[in-house]
Amino acid sequence: MLRVVYLSRSHLPPDKTAAAAELGSILEASRRNNAQAGVTGALLFTGELFAQVLEGPFAAAEAAFNRIQRDPRHSDIVVLHRGTPGAAAFDGWSMASAAAPPGIAVHPALSPPAGSGGEAAGDAIIALLRALLLRTPKGAGSRLPDGEATAAEELVRP
Ligand SMILES: Cc1cc2nc3c(=O)[nH]c(=O)nc-3n(C[C@H](O)[C@H](O)[C@H](O)COP(=O)(O)O)c2cc1C
Repeated sequence: MLRVVYLSRSHLPPDKTAAAAELGSILEASRRNNAQAGVTGALLFTGELFAQVLEGPFAAAEAAFNRIQRDPRHSDIVVLHRGTPGAAAFDGWSMASAAAPPGIAVHPALSPPAGSGGEAAGDAIIALLRALLLRTPKGAGSRLPDGEATAAEELVRP
């Protein structure tokens, strides 16, 4: 299994409604493609940046990340960690979407010091995304469809 954890600068429109619509279409394509390819992960959009964890069979995760890197809806991709974990951190989530609370932009996991990448930086993002998923309200359009919700509940149980 391959895991890639990265940060990138969003190019979604500044208008919140327009950005939410575009994020919705990113998630829709992600869930469709990832479910088919056996890729799982989680995505956070803060309004300014994206943090994403992608994991799955090596070739599938690599192919997804190659597509994502070419997407003009973001830039300045910084890969914090790329490795082969023992187990998926977001098993059962084709692409979980974490709701961004106010002030999240200053969370230290989202601005790791230059050159501080590596597994710890990746793990800090994973911990943040998991914590945010715990707080993400159901029915806000940010959780997975029903079929995958059961696995999600398992994952976020404290
Ligand atoms: C921040 C970000 C995250 C994305 N994550 C995924 C993803 O996990 N899986 C995926 O297939 N596409 C993802 N995309 C979309 C891809 O860049 C691309 O638009 C999409 O895979 C094309 O799929 P389609 O040809 O089926 O429409 C992401 C895009 C952005 C900007």
